[in-house]
Parts: sequence; structure tokens; C-alpha cells
Amino acid sequence: MAHFERTTERLTLRRVRMSDLPDFVALERALRATEKRSPPAEAESAEYLRRFTEVWDRGDLGCWAIEMTGRVVGFGGVQPHGDAWNLYFRVDPARHGLGIATEMAREAVATAGEVRPDWVVRCETRPWNTAAIKVAERAGLTRIDDHDGYAVLEFHPIGRR
Ligand SMILES: CC(C)(COP(=O)(O)OP(=O)(O)OC[C@H]1O[C@@H](n2cnc3c(N)ncnc32)[C@H](O)[C@@H]1OP(=O)(O)O)[C@@H](O)C(=O)NCCC(=O)NCCS
Repeated sequence: MAHFERTTERLTLRRVRMSDLPDFVALERALRATEKRSPPAEAESAEYLRRFTEVWDRGDLGCWAIEMTGRVVGFGGVQPHGDAWNLYFRVDPARHGLGIATEMAREAVATAGEVRPDWVVRCETRPWNTAAIKVAERAGLTRIDDHDGYAVLEFHPIGRR
């Protein structure tokens, strides 16, 4: 699946693998610490990561590990959800505000459009998650009506509504 992997100005975007588990857990732990939440159970994180790797294993475009200067600094990308792309991102809190999620999300939207241009790209997040909403908007998505307590943003390829 190397053809689904990308490099941008600062980032290497490569498929996630189970060997990313230590970085995956460390990122979740760091994010939860900023919210004063207890760390994730390793088994819970492993299950989450396994579901990301399965997408790649069945041949689809899935979530990337985001590397900058040789280190994993986050996870994100698009993966199929029904007949749409779900856009997702999480970045190391020590590196927030550097444009990492935006740089990744723009590439994810472009790649999604190459792989299945007829699919909508959708991002759902809590309405108070202003950083995530900004990232999605900067990647070209537009906010539509909230659904079930979530802010919903979509990018419709030309000709599809
Ligand atoms: C959302 C998230 C991925 C943004 O990552 P990032 O690399 O910092 O994003 P960017 O630098 O590309 O830009 C996002 C914008 O939000 C701002 N921002 C970043 N972190 C923020 C925070 N904690 N609170 C408020 N604004 C924040 C950035 O400064 C930037 O805005 P600006 O350019 O006007 O200053 C990151 O905050 C994160 O990992 N959050 C936890 C996971 C999450 O909520 N994911 C979204 C679920 S879909």
C-alpha cells in the first residue's frame, strides 16, 4: 500500500502498524493528561490501533502515523465509514499549534479524492473542539448542522451533494 503513503513539506505520512503501539499509547496518555483524565488501558489502545491496521490490511486507504524529523508526532488521516471518508487526527500536545494536523488533513483530503472521488469527506467532533474544527475547515471542509451533539464538517467533491 506504499502508493497511499505521502510526504508533505514537513511530514512523512505512512500506514499505521501494530509496532506503533508504544507511540500510540504515549500520545493518548499525553492528550488525556492535558485534560486531567486517567491514562488509557493498554489493551483498549491496542484494540483501537488494531482496527486502524485492519483497514490497511484489507487494501483500503486508512489512518497514517504522522512522522516529523523521524519521530511519530501524531496519527490521522481518512478511512472508509459507510460510503464516506471519515477524517480523524490526534497530535502530540507538545507540538500543538504548529500546523501539523492541518498539513496532514489537507493531504488526507487530497488522497481521499484520488482514491474515491465520489465519496464525501466527513469530520465529526465536539462543538467546543475549536482546534479540530479549524483543522477541518482549513482542509476544505464546511460545517453543516450538528448531529447527535457533534459538530459535523463535510467536503463534497465537485458534482456531489
Ligand atoms: C485537534 C488537533 C489535532 C489540532 O492539532 P494541531 O497540529 O495543533 O493543529 P494545527 O496546528 O494545524 O491548527 C489548529 C488550530 O487550532 C489551534 N489549537 C491547537 N491546539 C489548540 C488547543 N488545545 N486549544 C485551542 N486551539 C488550539 C492552533 O493554534 C491552530 O489555530 P491558529 O493557527 O489560529 O493558531 C489537536 O489539538 C489534538 O490532537 N487534539 C486532541 C484530539 C482531537 O480532538 N482530535 C480531533 C477529533 S476528530
